[in-house]
Amino acid sequence: MVFLKVALGFLITAFLSATVSLAHPGLGFGWGIGGSPGGQFGAHPFGLFPQFYQFSCPQADNIVMSVLNKAIAKQPRMAASLLRLHFHDCFVQGCDASILLDDSATIASEKNALPNRNSIRGFEVIDEIKAKLEEACPQTVSCADILAMAARGSTVLSGGPSWELPLGRRDSKNASLSSSNTNIPPPNSTLQNLITLFQRQSLDEVDLVALSGGHTIGVARCATFKQRLYNQNGNNLPDLTLEKSYYNGLKSVCPKSGGDNNISPLDFGSPVKFDNLYFKLILWGKGLLNSDQVLLSGNVGNTMELVKAYAEDDKLFFKQFAKSMIKMGNISPLTGFNGEVRKNCRVVN
Ligand code: HEM
Ligand SMILES: *[C@@H]1O[C@H](CO)[C@@H](O)[C@H](O)[C@H]1NC(C)=O
Ligand SMILES: *[C@@H]1O[C@H](CO)[C@@H](O)[C@H](O)[C@H]1NC(C)=O
Repeated sequence: MVFLKVALGFLITAFLSATVSLAHPGLGFGWGIGGSPGGQFGAHPFGLFPQFYQFSCPQADNIVMSVLNKAIAKQPRMAASLLRLHFHDCFVQGCDASILLDDSATIASEKNALPNRNSIRGFEVIDEIKAKLEEACPQTVSCADILAMAARGSTVLSGGPSWELPLGRRDSKNASLSSSNTNIPPPNSTLQNLITLFQRQSLDEVDLVALSGGHTIGVARCATFKQRLYNQNGNNLPDLTLEKSYYNGLKSVCPKSGGDNNISPLDFGSPVKFDNLYFKLILWGKGLLNSDQVLLSGNVGNTMELVKAYAEDDKLFFKQFAKSMIKMGNISPLTGFNGEVRKNCRVVN
């Protein structure tokens, strides 16, 4: 009898929830379904939670993964590009897919911001995921959640950790070119600068070091590390923390003049494998970006110890990376009645 009551209660809640989800995509409250954390409803009536699409689009993650599988098999770097896309979204007005909006009469696209221009990529893969999701579950899965799922999926498919991903973000109706330029850290940042820019997003030093580990995959253009090779401190000298043979190799990829779009792996030992070699390379003076190397040499706070700890223990790095990705993915999401679920990630409805 007790069992029947519980089962009936579950069915009713499930039905109600599905109905509400249809009427207001994104309004899938926790409502205690499937034993979701009790405090969630009271504390954050519109908070993110992993079962958000459980009834409205249960196949969402499978669809994301099938597109990712193909795209990454065809071009392994795509995993890195998609991971970075989520980061550049979340640091500008929160994780609201503002980065996906194209230029229009009312939108100054973030794609033209300094950290993104000629650099950020992966939009066609997001479009393909969105098209498949619109077919399966029209106007249900937000572009901001697609970015979060693509970032996790890309990490997993590259050999990195997985995590239970809170969902329920909604999409912005605007973008901020200026905030892209000011909030996303430049590659020649000092350590203090990096800490400040992460703090602005409520991310601490541990998050900074763990998330920088995202540079275990992907590449960077010569323009982003040239300063280190030829004029680190305005005195026409290289960055002395660069290991000699690595420095010589980089100079051949990145000449003093020209070659700005030549690329070099961020982790040259295993550029498409998500592992902790990135941190070992930093210990050996082989971090590619200034922002990578200063985590060891910058002499602020605790980051040096963290680099050493992650270099020594890949499990520790994986665990913290997952935690920090959840934290980053939780930056000022639009929820409830705020924002919308875009039909096309490039334009507002
Ligand atoms: C700590 C501050 C950070 C700085 C200064 C920074 C800077 C950069 C730069 C300059 C590039 C190369 C861009 C180009 O060639 O135009 C890059 C690439 C990349 N970044 Fe970061 N980044 C930071 C943090 C992060 C975080 C938090 C993540 C993700 C968790 C991330 C993931 C990536 C990935 C995966 C790539 C390679 C992308 C590709 O190959 O397409 N970065 N980053
Ligand atoms: C975008 O919209 C949000 C919510 O309406 C608003 O708070 C924010 O200031 C807007 N940003 C820009 C750059 O217009
Ligand atoms: C970083 O690079 C920018 C653009 O090249 C330059 O204006 C700025 O002074 C550099 N910052 C540092 C700390 O070197």
